[in-house]
Amino acid sequence: MMRLTLTLIWFLQISFTLAENGLNGWLRYAPVSCDQHCQRALPSRIVTLNSTRGSPVGTAAQEIHDGLRKIAGKKATTEHTTSCDTHSAILVATVEDYLRVCNNKNSNVPTLNDDGFWIDIDGAQGRIIGQNARGALYGAYEYLSRLAQGDFSPVDEVTSPHAPIRWVNQWDNMDGSIERGYAGPSIFFANGQIVGDLTRAKQYARLLASVRINAIIVNNVNANATLLTPQNMDGLARIADIYRPYGIHIGISLNFASPDTLGGLGTYDPLDESVIEWWSDITDRLYDRIPDMAGYLVKASSEGQPGPDTYNRTLAEGANLFARALQPHGGVLMFRAFVYDHHLTEDSWTNDRANAQVDFFKKLDGQFEDNVVIQIKYGPIDFQVREPVSPLFANLYQTNMAIELQVTQEYLGHQCHLVYLPPLWKTILDFDLRVDQQASPVRDIISGERFKRPLGGWAAVVNVGTNTTWLGSHLAMSNLYAYGRLAWEPKADSIAILQDWVRLTFGANRQVLDAITDMSMASWPAYENYTGNLGIQTLTDILYTHYGPNPGSQDGNGWGQWTRADNVSIGMDRTVKNGTANAGQYPSEIAQMYEDIETTPDDLLLWFHHVPYTHRLDSGKTVIQHFYDAHYSGAETAQGFVPQWESLHGLVDRERYEAVRTRLVYQAGHSIVWRDAINNFYWNLSGIADTAGRVGHHPWRIEAETMDLKGYRPYAVDPFETASRYTAVVTTTNSTTGTAQTKVKVPSGTYDLGVNYFDLYGGQSQWSVYVNERLVGEWKGNSEDVLGHTPSIYLDGHSAIRITFRGVKIRTGDRLKIVGVPDGVEPAPLDYVVFLPAGVID
Ligand SMILES: *[C@@H]1O[C@H](CO)[C@@H](O)[C@H](O)[C@H]1NC(C)=O
Ligand SMILES: *[C@@H]1O[C@H](CO)[C@@H](O)[C@H](O)[C@H]1NC(C)=O
Ligand SMILES: *[C@@H]1O[C@H](CO)[C@@H](O)[C@H](O)[C@H]1NC(C)=O
Ligand SMILES: *[C@@H]1O[C@H](CO)[C@@H](O)[C@H](O)[C@H]1NC(C)=O
Ligand SMILES: *[C@@H]1O[C@H](CO)[C@@H](O)[C@H](O)[C@H]1NC(C)=O
Ligand SMILES: *[C@@H]1O[C@H](CO)[C@@H](O)[C@H](O)[C@H]1NC(C)=O
Ligand SMILES: *[C@@H]1O[C@H](CO)[C@@H](O)[C@H](O)[C@H]1NC(C)=O
Ligand SMILES: *[C@@H]1O[C@H](CO)[C@@H](O)[C@H](O)[C@H]1NC(C)=O
Ligand SMILES: *[C@@H]1O[C@H](CO)[C@@H](O)[C@H](O)[C@H]1NC(C)=O
Repeated sequence: MMRLTLTLIWFLQISFTLAENGLNGWLRYAPVSCDQHCQRALPSRIVTLNSTRGSPVGTAAQEIHDGLRKIAGKKATTEHTTSCDTHSAILVATVEDYLRVCNNKNSNVPTLNDDGFWIDIDGAQGRIIGQNARGALYGAYEYLSRLAQGDFSPVDEVTSPHAPIRWVNQWDNMDGSIERGYAGPSIFFANGQIVGDLTRAKQYARLLASVRINAIIVNNVNANATLLTPQNMDGLARIADIYRPYGIHIGISLNFASPDTLGGLGTYDPLDESVIEWWSDITDRLYDRIPDMAGYLVKASSEGQPGPDTYNRTLAEGANLFARALQPHGGVLMFRAFVYDHHLTEDSWTNDRANAQVDFFKKLDGQFEDNVVIQIKYGPIDFQVREPVSPLFANLYQTNMAIELQVTQEYLGHQCHLVYLPPLWKTILDFDLRVDQQASPVRDIISGERFKRPLGGWAAVVNVGTNTTWLGSHLAMSNLYAYGRLAWEPKADSIAILQDWVRLTFGANRQVLDAITDMSMASWPAYENYTGNLGIQTLTDILYTHYGPNPGSQDGNGWGQWTRADNVSIGMDRTVKNGTANAGQYPSEIAQMYEDIETTPDDLLLWFHHVPYTHRLDSGKTVIQHFYDAHYSGAETAQGFVPQWESLHGLVDRERYEAVRTRLVYQAGHSIVWRDAINNFYWNLSGIADTAGRVGHHPWRIEAETMDLKGYRPYAVDPFETASRYTAVVTTTNSTTGTAQTKVKVPSGTYDLGVNYFDLYGGQSQWSVYVNERLVGEWKGNSEDVLGHTPSIYLDGHSAIRITFRGVKIRTGDRLKIVGVPDGVEPAPLDYVVFLPAGVID
């Protein structure tokens, strides 16, 4: 009885002291129900055979020790031993140590590949055997993942990774900023140096190791040569020391011109002897400090970055320079395929950025050193909401390849929109390229299996920051978790992965599991629906923040993300017969499919074909009507996320409940901004009305510019489509309070009152809404401090935002008044007010 009470007290303490700020991600080790009987059936000893300090085997033992205590209230001892005494113990060891120490005849250890593990546990006794020390750590995390999900059943599992390279990339700059990062500054860098306190870096290592990531590139691909100063090399060695016990190697991105800019050689020609020597010396000095460094990542001759082209050298000559410097140390050179001309002219119908990778790299096949891996973005352009597979995957027979994914949601909502990415990734990984008429799914190409390559695998741009949520959003962490899981086993099911993550992150409640599963699985299709459909790309602003809508930004510039939309037709003609011939870069069976508009799937129609808006899809709808319908459906789905999440009130801790709710409410509003902007834009361009009569008709809205204005003036928003009726109001000066008033004409009743406004970077205006002088709501333009997406200094699709006040009682003829107080450069901008009766979305 006494024991039981103590257990209960322990349980309550743990539940109430856990700060649910996201810092532990899916490694919370939250208590699950485990009574005395259950505790007795758990191991009381954790035995390792290798006492080398800093070995991942030691980390494994420590994690199991902590996990048993936190998850099940079980105290276990950790011991190093040189005998094979495993009574009531979990033995954690490498295959080699296990065979040496426990050399009994019947120890039939299964075959494992590098990093693989065998976990064989029944109750209080068992073993976790890694092919190497890292594998043993992976096995420990697997065991704990089961316990944390309340699964105490016996386990006998043997598993090895899909591919040897399972890396993450951080686009962290030396000054501490992160390119395309949405969760605060870097955990690695500040003020041109490696930070002194690497606590967060270590916590990140733990998360990565638990999903079997084995290397991290710590700095931006747009790299700064000052990373290579002796002081910074010492800093890198400190990071490596922190990561080593987690079985994670570190690597760095290099700036191709470093021998000139840092070394003062006056050249960075990859064939110049002094340059070769410089890099070999730098590499030696790095390996002196970090003997197990993973290698380098190089972005060269890309988007203005220096590269071998300066000296008329090939990309292979450029890559091999680093590969050779790395060879004596066993390092790998990841070389990005993201090379293209960003001054392409749209005047030529046959120009196509999507052709660039095959154009540049195919002819170099066979010329790369064996430790070079070409890191290829999943699609031919740039992390869009839907792309076909990059044809480069089908064009390199004698070159190692890795796929580059993004966990950071650069074109997919900056973590302010819920987008669970595995279903998108699966469209790529499972795609069969039919190289030489043989089965050639992308996953088997990157693993090295299809072309019998020794190396290959995965890289994902993650960009975690100092925010305790890591990615800025609790729910976005499912993408990081799933990335690791898929890199280990790409055939794993998206839902199964997600549900493991939900149980680990939010506990075992069935309602929580179902709601987050539904929302997550609907999230990418919804996002595609309310952004860019039919393969036209995301339609975000590609010239500014890559966040809100701006379809016009795709065309008329050299970046080559063209839609070729005019007043009658839209889409890129990538056919061989009449277009850019991009379809012809795919193996013949795939090329034929994309060449023919009849066999091109609808969801990539506009990627490969230029058609009239009136072209009919397989569904029977016209292209333009599909745009309209999809945008309405997508935004409707996003509205539904809010009540779905709110149904979990009380089932999720308050801190995370509120943080997630804030984002989902924001997303619901911003999905309407997206819906209306894209629909307005193409309605305006094509002049073809929505057959359902929704586009341009908003019966429940009052436009701010039609209200009685004092201290406010109308403002023509640019891009026009991002404001309702293309117009907003702003205060007449930056110190004038604005007032907008009107008589309400809607029928008397209870409404949700929405106000659409613009929240700019550089000021925090304040607004108040009154009905007949009764204050209904007030708020501040401070989303730049709350949301973490790249902010905008303009009234546009990034800054457009909605706030909703629920259950406002209105009578016909009431006087509605909004008062806006400008601040800094933010002139308290207002777009419209909307009265929403129950069930209406407008
Ligand atoms: C213990 O592990 C270390 C690091 O993984 C390894 O170098 C060493 O050989 C191992 N020691 C024994 C006795 O197996
Ligand atoms: C590189 O880093 C140095 C030192 O932090 C900084 O002064 C310089 O501006 C950086 N260069 C670039 C191109 O970011
Ligand atoms: C660049 O190299 C190519 C192939 O090696 C050669 O044909 C061409 O003349 C060179 N161009 C210049 C400007 O050196
Ligand atoms: C994390 O971001 C949230 C909003 O996304 C913000 O409210 C919070 O202050 C941030 N916390 C830290 C520690 O950066
Ligand atoms: C499309 O625009 C062109 C001029 O750019 C004009 O001649 C033509 O009539 C327009 N077609 C339609 C259907 O609006
Ligand atoms: C063929 O290409 C031309 C531009 O060269 C374009 O105007 C035309 O629409 C294309 N025809 C078809 C059938 O796609
Ligand atoms: C996406 O739009 C299509 C077409 O309107 C619709 O059938 C589908 O249900 C939508 N899906 C989501 C998740 O919004
Ligand atoms: C499209 O928008 C422009 C700019 O606001 C406007 O001048 C034009 O009349 C609109 N065209 C149509 C068809 O709505
Ligand atoms: C307010 O406007 C004045 C005049 O346009 C300008 O000089 C001043 O910088 C503005 N103040 C702020 C805080 O933006």
